[in-house]
Amino acid sequence: MPSDRLSNSVTGQNFQSYLESLHRKYQALRDGNVANYIPELAKANPDWFGIAIATVDGQVFSVGDADHLFTIQSISKVFVQGLALEDHGRDYFLTRVGVEPTGDAFNAIVLDEQSKRPYNPMVNAGAIATTSLIKGNGPTERLNRLLEMFRGYIGHDIFVDASTFMSERTTGDRNRAMAYLMRNFGMIDTNLEEALDLYFQQCSVMVSCRDLAVMAATLANRGVNPVTGDRAVAAGYIRDMLSVMYTCGMYNFAGEWSYRVGLPAKSGVSGGIIVVVPNQIGIAVFSPLLDHRANSVRGVKVCEELSERFELHLF
Ligand code: DON
Repeated sequence: MPSDRLSNSVTGQNFQSYLESLHRKYQALRDGNVANYIPELAKANPDWFGIAIATVDGQVFSVGDADHLFTIQSISKVFVQGLALEDHGRDYFLTRVGVEPTGDAFNAIVLDEQSKRPYNPMVNAGAIATTSLIKGNGPTERLNRLLEMFRGYIGHDIFVDASTFMSERTTGDRNRAMAYLMRNFGMIDTNLEEALDLYFQQCSVMVSCRDLAVMAATLANRGVNPVTGDRAVAAGYIRDMLSVMYTCGMYNFAGEWSYRVGLPAKSGVSGGIIVVVPNQIGIAVFSPLLDHRANSVRGVKVCEELSERFELHLF
Protein backbone atom coordinates (compact mmCIF):
# COMPACT_ATOMS: atom_id res chain seq x y z
CA MET A 1 0.00 0.00 0.00
CA PRO A 2 1.79 3.14 -1.14
CA SER A 3 0.09 5.43 1.37
CA ASP A 4 -3.00 5.82 3.49
CA ARG A 5 -4.82 7.77 0.86
CA LEU A 6 -3.55 5.59 -1.98
CA SER A 7 -4.55 2.51 -0.04
CA ASN A 8 -8.14 3.68 0.01
CA SER A 9 -8.23 3.25 -3.75
CA VAL A 10 -5.68 0.60 -4.60
CA THR A 11 -3.64 -2.13 -2.98
CA GLY A 12 -0.96 -4.58 -4.16
CA GLN A 13 -1.90 -6.13 -7.49
CA ASN A 14 -4.44 -3.40 -8.26
CA PHE A 15 -1.83 -0.73 -7.85
CA GLN A 16 0.59 -2.63 -10.09
CA SER A 17 -2.12 -2.89 -12.78
CA TYR A 18 -2.83 0.80 -12.43
CA LEU A 19 0.87 1.63 -12.97
CA GLU A 20 0.91 -0.60 -16.04
CA SER A 21 -2.07 1.20 -17.55
CA LEU A 22 -0.48 4.58 -16.78
CA HIS A 23 2.70 3.42 -18.51
CA ARG A 24 0.77 2.19 -21.57
CA LYS A 25 -1.10 5.46 -21.80
CA TYR A 26 2.00 7.66 -21.96
CA GLN A 27 4.34 5.31 -23.85
CA ALA A 28 2.58 6.51 -27.02
CA LEU A 29 3.42 10.16 -26.28
CA ARG A 30 6.39 11.13 -28.45
CA ASP A 31 6.67 14.87 -27.73
CA GLY A 32 10.01 16.44 -26.83
CA ASN A 33 13.66 15.77 -27.65
CA VAL A 34 16.52 13.96 -25.94
CA ALA A 35 19.23 16.26 -24.55
CA ASN A 36 21.96 16.80 -27.12
CA TYR A 37 24.26 19.39 -25.56
CA ILE A 38 26.36 16.60 -24.03
CA PRO A 39 27.24 13.97 -26.68
CA GLU A 40 26.75 10.98 -24.34
CA LEU A 41 23.19 12.09 -23.51
CA ALA A 42 22.29 12.37 -27.20
CA LYS A 43 22.59 8.57 -27.44
CA ALA A 44 19.45 8.06 -25.32
CA ASN A 45 16.61 6.04 -26.83
CA PRO A 46 13.39 8.12 -26.93
CA ASP A 47 11.34 4.99 -26.16
CA TRP A 48 12.92 4.38 -22.75
CA PHE A 49 10.23 4.83 -20.12
CA GLY A 50 10.06 3.59 -16.55
CA ILE A 51 7.99 4.41 -13.48
CA ALA A 52 8.77 3.33 -9.91
CA ILE A 53 7.14 4.05 -6.58
CA ALA A 54 8.66 3.21 -3.20
CA THR A 55 6.73 3.44 0.04
CA VAL A 56 8.05 4.49 3.44
CA ASP A 57 7.36 0.94 4.60
CA GLY A 58 9.82 -0.39 2.02
CA GLN A 59 7.65 -1.74 -0.82
CA VAL A 60 8.68 -0.92 -4.38
CA PHE A 61 6.32 -0.99 -7.38
CA SER A 62 7.73 -0.56 -10.86
CA VAL A 63 6.86 -0.78 -14.53
CA GLY A 64 8.63 -0.45 -17.91
CA ASP A 65 12.34 0.38 -18.03
CA ALA A 66 12.56 0.82 -14.27
CA ASP A 67 15.85 -1.12 -14.01
CA HIS A 68 17.58 0.56 -16.94
CA LEU A 69 20.69 2.46 -15.77
CA PHE A 70 21.21 6.09 -16.75
CA THR A 71 23.16 9.07 -15.37
CA ILE A 72 21.48 10.85 -12.48
CA GLN A 73 22.39 14.37 -13.72
CA SER A 74 20.76 17.25 -11.85
CA ILE A 75 18.79 15.00 -9.52
CA SER A 76 22.14 14.56 -7.74
CA LYS A 77 21.99 18.23 -6.66
CA VAL A 78 19.39 17.53 -3.96
CA PHE A 79 21.52 14.86 -2.29
CA VAL A 80 24.79 16.78 -2.54
CA GLN A 81 23.02 19.71 -0.88
CA GLY A 82 22.22 17.35 2.00
CA LEU A 83 25.88 16.38 2.37
CA ALA A 84 27.04 20.02 2.18
CA LEU A 85 24.54 20.89 4.92
CA GLU A 86 25.87 18.05 7.07
CA ASP A 87 29.43 19.23 6.42
CA HIS A 88 28.83 22.91 7.26
CA GLY A 89 25.43 23.45 8.89
CA ARG A 90 22.56 25.59 7.65
CA ASP A 91 23.91 29.02 8.59
CA TYR A 92 27.22 28.72 6.80
CA PHE A 93 25.63 27.02 3.80
CA LEU A 94 23.29 29.99 3.40
CA THR A 95 26.22 32.40 3.22
CA ARG A 96 27.38 30.55 0.07
CA VAL A 97 24.20 29.53 -1.74
CA GLY A 98 20.76 31.17 -1.62
CA VAL A 99 17.31 29.54 -1.60
CA GLU A 100 15.53 31.82 -4.07
CA PRO A 101 13.96 30.48 -7.28
CA THR A 102 15.28 32.16 -10.43
CA GLY A 103 12.61 31.66 -13.07
CA ASP A 104 15.62 31.17 -15.36
CA ALA A 105 16.97 28.12 -17.18
CA PHE A 106 19.10 25.66 -15.19
CA ASN A 107 22.30 26.86 -16.85
CA ALA A 108 21.73 30.62 -16.62
CA ILE A 109 24.89 32.55 -15.77
CA VAL A 110 23.44 34.73 -13.06
CA LEU A 111 24.27 35.50 -9.43
CA ASP A 112 22.31 37.49 -6.84
CA GLU A 113 23.27 41.16 -7.43
CA GLN A 114 23.43 42.00 -3.74
CA SER A 115 25.00 38.97 -2.10
CA LYS A 116 26.86 37.56 -5.13
CA ARG A 117 25.59 34.13 -4.13
CA PRO A 118 24.18 31.77 -6.73
CA TYR A 119 20.40 31.83 -6.35
CA ASN A 120 19.79 28.26 -5.17
CA PRO A 121 21.44 24.81 -5.05
CA MET A 122 19.31 23.41 -7.93
CA VAL A 123 20.55 25.65 -10.76
CA ASN A 124 24.00 24.77 -12.10
CA ALA A 125 25.79 27.75 -10.53
CA GLY A 126 24.40 26.93 -7.07
CA ALA A 127 25.07 23.24 -7.51
CA ILE A 128 28.71 23.85 -8.40
CA ALA A 129 29.11 26.13 -5.36
CA THR A 130 27.43 23.43 -3.23
CA THR A 131 29.73 20.71 -4.53
CA SER A 132 32.76 22.89 -3.81
CA LEU A 133 31.75 22.75 -0.13
CA ILE A 134 32.07 18.96 0.18
CA LYS A 135 34.77 18.21 2.72
CA GLY A 136 37.62 15.77 2.18
CA ASN A 137 41.36 15.50 1.99
CA GLY A 138 41.87 15.72 -1.77
CA PRO A 139 39.68 14.85 -4.77
CA THR A 140 39.63 11.08 -4.19
CA GLU A 141 38.39 11.37 -0.63
CA ARG A 142 35.76 13.89 -1.67
CA LEU A 143 34.53 11.61 -4.48
CA ASN A 144 34.45 8.64 -2.10
CA ARG A 145 32.44 10.62 0.46
CA LEU A 146 30.00 11.58 -2.27
CA LEU A 147 29.63 7.99 -3.48
CA GLU A 148 29.20 6.78 0.10
CA MET A 149 26.44 9.34 0.60
CA PHE A 150 24.64 8.14 -2.58
CA ARG A 151 25.03 4.51 -1.44
CA GLY A 152 23.13 5.36 1.73
CA TYR A 153 20.10 6.54 -0.24
CA ILE A 154 20.26 3.81 -2.89
CA GLY A 155 21.17 0.84 -0.71
CA HIS A 156 23.79 -0.73 -2.98
CA ASP A 157 27.10 0.03 -4.69
CA ILE A 158 27.10 2.62 -7.45
CA PHE A 159 29.57 3.86 -10.03
CA VAL A 160 30.36 6.91 -12.15
CA ASP A 161 29.99 6.47 -15.91
CA ALA A 162 33.42 7.41 -17.28
CA SER A 163 32.21 8.32 -20.79
CA THR A 164 29.58 10.74 -19.52
CA PHE A 165 32.04 12.25 -17.08
CA MET A 166 34.54 12.88 -19.89
CA SER A 167 31.77 14.15 -22.14
CA GLU A 168 30.56 16.60 -19.46
CA ARG A 169 34.08 17.73 -18.75
CA THR A 170 35.02 18.40 -22.37
CA THR A 171 31.79 20.27 -23.14
CA GLY A 172 31.46 22.02 -19.76
CA ASP A 173 32.76 25.50 -20.55
CA ARG A 174 29.51 27.15 -19.56
CA ASN A 175 29.75 25.56 -16.10
CA ARG A 176 33.43 26.49 -16.02
CA ALA A 177 32.50 30.13 -16.75
CA MET A 178 30.07 30.15 -13.82
CA ALA A 179 32.70 28.68 -11.54
CA TYR A 180 35.21 31.39 -12.48
CA LEU A 181 32.60 34.08 -11.93
CA MET A 182 31.80 32.69 -8.48
CA ARG A 183 35.47 32.45 -7.58
CA ASN A 184 35.85 36.08 -8.61
CA PHE A 185 33.23 36.98 -5.99
CA GLY A 186 34.74 34.72 -3.33
CA MET A 187 31.86 32.23 -3.47
CA ILE A 188 34.19 29.34 -4.33
CA ASP A 189 37.50 29.10 -2.57
CA THR A 190 38.60 25.54 -3.28
CA ASN A 191 40.48 24.32 -6.36
CA LEU A 192 38.18 25.22 -9.19
CA GLU A 193 38.92 22.39 -11.61
CA GLU A 194 38.63 19.84 -8.78
CA ALA A 195 35.25 21.24 -7.77
CA LEU A 196 34.06 21.11 -11.38
CA ASP A 197 35.31 17.53 -11.80
CA LEU A 198 33.41 16.48 -8.69
CA TYR A 199 30.29 18.19 -10.04
CA PHE A 200 30.67 16.40 -13.41
CA GLN A 201 31.22 13.11 -11.54
CA GLN A 202 28.13 13.53 -9.37
CA CYS A 203 26.07 14.15 -12.55
CA SER A 204 27.51 10.95 -14.06
CA VAL A 205 26.51 8.58 -11.25
CA MET A 206 24.50 5.67 -12.72
CA VAL A 207 21.06 4.98 -11.28
CA SER A 208 17.85 3.23 -12.25
CA CYS A 209 14.35 4.55 -11.89
CA ARG A 210 13.87 2.04 -9.07
CA ASP A 211 16.97 3.46 -7.31
CA LEU A 212 15.57 6.98 -7.67
CA ALA A 213 12.23 5.93 -6.16
CA VAL A 214 14.05 4.52 -3.11
CA MET A 215 16.11 7.74 -2.86
CA ALA A 216 12.92 9.81 -2.98
CA ALA A 217 11.27 7.51 -0.43
CA THR A 218 14.29 8.03 1.84
CA LEU A 219 13.54 11.75 1.78
CA ALA A 220 9.85 11.00 2.38
CA ASN A 221 10.94 8.84 5.34
CA ARG A 222 12.88 11.68 7.00
CA GLY A 223 16.28 10.48 5.83
CA VAL A 224 16.08 6.74 6.57
CA ASN A 225 16.25 4.40 3.57
CA PRO A 226 13.00 2.42 3.93
CA VAL A 227 14.44 -0.69 2.26
CA THR A 228 17.73 -1.02 4.19
CA GLY A 229 16.73 0.84 7.37
CA ASP A 230 19.97 2.85 7.20
CA ARG A 231 20.05 6.60 7.78
CA ALA A 232 21.27 8.49 4.68
CA VAL A 233 21.03 12.08 5.95
CA ALA A 234 20.33 13.81 9.26
CA ALA A 235 16.56 14.24 9.74
CA GLY A 236 17.07 17.93 10.56
CA TYR A 237 18.09 18.75 6.98
CA ILE A 238 15.12 17.13 5.24
CA ARG A 239 13.13 20.35 5.52
CA ASP A 240 15.94 22.30 3.81
CA MET A 241 16.15 19.81 0.97
CA LEU A 242 12.41 19.49 0.39
CA SER A 243 11.75 23.26 0.57
CA VAL A 244 14.35 23.95 -2.09
CA MET A 245 13.04 21.09 -4.24
CA TYR A 246 9.53 22.50 -3.90
CA THR A 247 10.44 26.04 -4.97
CA CYS A 248 13.38 25.44 -7.35
CA GLY A 249 13.56 21.74 -8.33
CA MET A 250 11.86 22.07 -11.71
CA TYR A 251 13.74 25.24 -12.74
CA ASN A 252 11.64 27.71 -14.74
CA PHE A 253 8.68 25.32 -14.51
CA ALA A 254 8.81 25.28 -10.69
CA GLY A 255 5.85 27.63 -10.20
CA GLU A 256 3.54 25.81 -12.56
CA TRP A 257 4.68 22.45 -11.19
CA SER A 258 3.93 23.53 -7.60
CA TYR A 259 0.55 24.79 -8.72
CA ARG A 260 -0.38 21.67 -10.66
CA VAL A 261 1.39 18.81 -8.90
CA GLY A 262 2.02 20.44 -5.52
CA LEU A 263 4.94 18.27 -4.36
CA PRO A 264 8.72 18.68 -3.95
CA ALA A 265 10.48 17.35 -7.06
CA LYS A 266 13.72 17.38 -9.01
CA SER A 267 14.39 16.71 -12.66
CA GLY A 268 17.55 15.95 -14.66
CA VAL A 269 18.52 16.22 -18.32
CA SER A 270 18.83 12.46 -18.77
CA GLY A 271 15.05 12.28 -18.29
CA GLY A 272 14.59 11.42 -14.62
CA ILE A 273 12.19 13.11 -12.21
CA ILE A 274 11.85 12.35 -8.51
CA VAL A 275 8.89 13.40 -6.42
CA VAL A 276 8.54 13.20 -2.65
CA VAL A 277 5.21 12.73 -0.88
CA PRO A 278 6.33 13.42 2.70
CA ASN A 279 5.74 10.53 5.11
CA GLN A 280 4.21 8.45 2.31
CA ILE A 281 6.02 7.63 -0.92
CA GLY A 282 8.84 8.43 -3.32
CA ILE A 283 7.97 8.55 -7.04
CA ALA A 284 10.46 8.30 -9.91
CA VAL A 285 9.87 8.50 -13.64
CA PHE A 286 12.49 8.03 -16.34
CA SER A 287 11.92 9.03 -19.96
CA PRO A 288 14.58 10.98 -21.90
CA LEU A 289 12.27 13.04 -24.14
CA LEU A 290 12.51 16.55 -22.67
CA ASP A 291 10.46 19.73 -23.08
CA HIS A 292 12.09 23.11 -23.75
CA ARG A 293 12.74 23.59 -20.02
CA ALA A 294 14.68 20.31 -19.83
CA ASN A 295 11.99 18.41 -17.90
CA SER A 296 10.89 14.93 -19.01
CA VAL A 297 7.64 15.21 -21.00
CA ARG A 298 6.28 11.79 -20.00
CA GLY A 299 7.62 12.33 -16.49
CA VAL A 300 5.65 15.53 -15.98
CA LYS A 301 2.48 13.93 -17.37
CA VAL A 302 2.75 10.85 -15.16
CA CYS A 303 3.31 12.97 -12.04
CA GLU A 304 0.41 15.27 -12.85
CA GLU A 305 -1.84 12.27 -13.25
CA LEU A 306 -0.66 10.56 -10.05
CA SER A 307 -1.09 13.77 -8.05
CA GLU A 308 -4.57 14.33 -9.43
CA ARG A 309 -5.80 10.76 -9.10
CA PHE A 310 -4.56 10.20 -5.53
CA GLU A 311 -4.99 13.80 -4.33
CA LEU A 312 -1.32 14.12 -3.47
CA HIS A 313 -1.13 17.94 -3.84
CA LEU A 314 0.07 19.29 -0.49
CA PHE A 315 -2.64 21.93 -0.29
O1 DON B 1 25.65 20.73 -15.71
C1 DON B 1 25.13 20.11 -16.63
O2 DON B 1 25.04 20.59 -17.72
C2 DON B 1 24.58 18.70 -16.45
N1 DON B 1 25.56 17.79 -16.20
C3 DON B 1 23.49 18.63 -15.41
C4 DON B 1 22.33 19.27 -15.93
C5 DON B 1 20.98 18.82 -15.53
O3 DON B 1 20.59 17.68 -15.39
C6 DON B 1 20.10 19.98 -15.49
N2 DON B 1 18.78 19.63 -15.62
N3 DON B 1 17.83 19.53 -16.07
